[in-house]
Amino acid sequence: MALLIAVKGWDTQTWVARLKARFPDRDIRSWPNAVGNPADIRYALTWKAPARVLSDCPNMELVFSLGAGVDHLLGQDDLPKVPIVRVVDPDLTARMSEWIALQVLLHHRQHLAYAAQQRERVWRELEQPSAGDLRVGILGLGVLGADAADVLKRLGFNVAGWSRSKKTLEGIDSFAGDAEFDAFLARTDVLVNLLPLTAETRGLVDRSVLEKLARDGVLGGPVFINAGRGGSHVEADLVAALNDGTLKAASLDVFETEPLSPDSPLWACENAILTPHVAADSDPEAISDYIAAQILRFEADGTLDNRVDPARGY
Ligand SMILES: NC(=O)c1ccc[n+]([C@@H]2O[C@H](COP(=O)([O-])OP(=O)(O)OC[C@H]3O[C@@H](n4cnc5c(N)ncnc54)[C@H](OP(=O)(O)O)[C@@H]3O)[C@@H](O)[C@H]2O)c1
Repeated sequence: MALLIAVKGWDTQTWVARLKARFPDRDIRSWPNAVGNPADIRYALTWKAPARVLSDCPNMELVFSLGAGVDHLLGQDDLPKVPIVRVVDPDLTARMSEWIALQVLLHHRQHLAYAAQQRERVWRELEQPSAGDLRVGILGLGVLGADAADVLKRLGFNVAGWSRSKKTLEGIDSFAGDAEFDAFLARTDVLVNLLPLTAETRGLVDRSVLEKLARDGVLGGPVFINAGRGGSHVEADLVAALNDGTLKAASLDVFETEPLSPDSPLWACENAILTPHVAADSDPEAISDYIAAQILRFEADGTLDNRVDPARGY
């Protein structure tokens, strides 16, 4: 039985070497040039490879997505009907919470205003609200959202989250489902997106959502932070909202199309902080360990962690 590495945009041979280091006696193949007989393939590790590569393997038993998000996979027809496992890694989670905390703090501590003052050599104190007066609302209270919520709570922010199902997280207000969405937005000064991209979350954050955010907060206007997926926001609406004051500011790590086009009007928005999808990179060595451990356990007792539900989309 063989294991297939099928990645697009990443260095295949490095991934092959990582898996060989963990499984020196196994047959490790790679797409597109060294698949061999597809009937030999039992497990696949994939990132953005066409689903057909997987469906061509009639004896596939298990597919690993090499990232936390699985929209690259579930968006495709022809997926084999076998368990799909995604990456959950404490290092990745910590990196995401770092990026979210950094962005919330930059807006809370008025960094854009101080940076503008510095460029003009202006020494002027701005009134500084306390963290407890800032209401942060997190879209998605899964692995990443729950950890970011906890970190922000420990920094003293007033934190709530929105998810499909109600959560019990100490010190975090939980809102759930469509029925509680507007109430969640109405109490939110800083909206953070950590939702997966699914049919339901695509285009969710549009102008109507931005207009429902609190306008009586201590920052003088709402802020939007997106580190989930760019497909969950409507970029034209964000640009308009940043330019007409509906949004005071934004921090974006993800975009509708990546890389962000040099023509995008977002580059010129002085009230936006942009980073090139770097909020939480996966550490390949940690992920290889995680996958190797899951394979050994699957073979021993058939169990798997962090299985994706294709019907739900995440
Ligand atoms: N920018 C980066 O570098 C980077 C890195 C890694 C991941 N990401 C993105 O972050 C996303 C989240 O990762 P995760 O590990 O936290 O995922 P997760 O554990 O699967 O959590 C997803 C959360 O979203 C909620 N949700 C999903 N669909 C919803 C809907 N229609 N309405 C309301 N809530 C909904 C879920 O609600 P329930 O809890 O009720 O199920 C859950 O709380 C990934 O999918 C990926 O796109 C970005």
